[in-house]
Amino acid sequence: MQTKRMGQNLIRYQVTDSTNVDAAKAAADGASEGTLIIAESQRAGRGRKGRSWTSPEGCNLYFSLLLRPEYKPDQACMVTLVMALAVAEAIAGLGIDAKIKWPNDVVVSGKKVCGILTEMSLSGDRIAHVIIGTGINVNQTEFPEEIRQTADSLKNRAGNDVDREKLLSRVMEEFEKYYDVFVENGDLSGLMKKYESRLVNRNTAVRVLDPGGEFEGTARGINWYGELIVERENGIVENIYAGEVSVRGVYGYV
Ligand code: BTN
Repeated sequence: MQTKRMGQNLIRYQVTDSTNVDAAKAAADGASEGTLIIAESQRAGRGRKGRSWTSPEGCNLYFSLLLRPEYKPDQACMVTLVMALAVAEAIAGLGIDAKIKWPNDVVVSGKKVCGILTEMSLSGDRIAHVIIGTGINVNQTEFPEEIRQTADSLKNRAGNDVDREKLLSRVMEEFEKYYDVFVENGDLSGLMKKYESRLVNRNTAVRVLDPGGEFEGTARGINWYGELIVERENGIVENIYAGEVSVRGVYGYV
């Protein structure tokens, strides 16, 4: 890996419960910024919103990156978008047209190939550490019935095997580059154009699934804080904060 920090300290498991849990333990043991935990398979891979992440052996990438930032807790949710951008760019570097479904799913031809779960630990009102857990469906060919409509792998989409080590190195290199820009600005102002160029929802009709009430509009892009800018039919522009809200295409997942 041609990086200075990200992935330089590498901890590798054949099988583990969840690399996010391992990363939290490594953090408690004093592991340094950029420590990367990878596993060949996970017994209890965790997804967002309490879901599980299917993690079969030997075909995909499951990794968690440890960060020890100086910035404030409310800035940490933006690093998820930085990782989504890094993964999309790394996949694009292999000649596969990868897009981002806001905020942080990476999709290829409309199906999800990567999910990211960011977890933060606080010490008082400061960040103790941030863990970015990333799962990329690389060479998996069969998917469980429940996710077959929305998920797929790079291999199925591109038609050929993808080198996992090369892909992981590219992700770390891209992440380090974009993360430095994010840290310097303290927000996504330096990355939003790049992010928007990969945003699959851009200028498309979306349904915003807000617990306070669903509505439809046209997604225009993101702001400096990674919120999705949605123009409603009545012309009112809403900034959507990821948190509890999800966004779907009006006709399906994307
Ligand atoms: C999602 O639901 O989209 C996020 C999935 C995140 C899965 C990755 S796999 C590596 C890391 N370890 C986990 O237990 N989860 C994340």
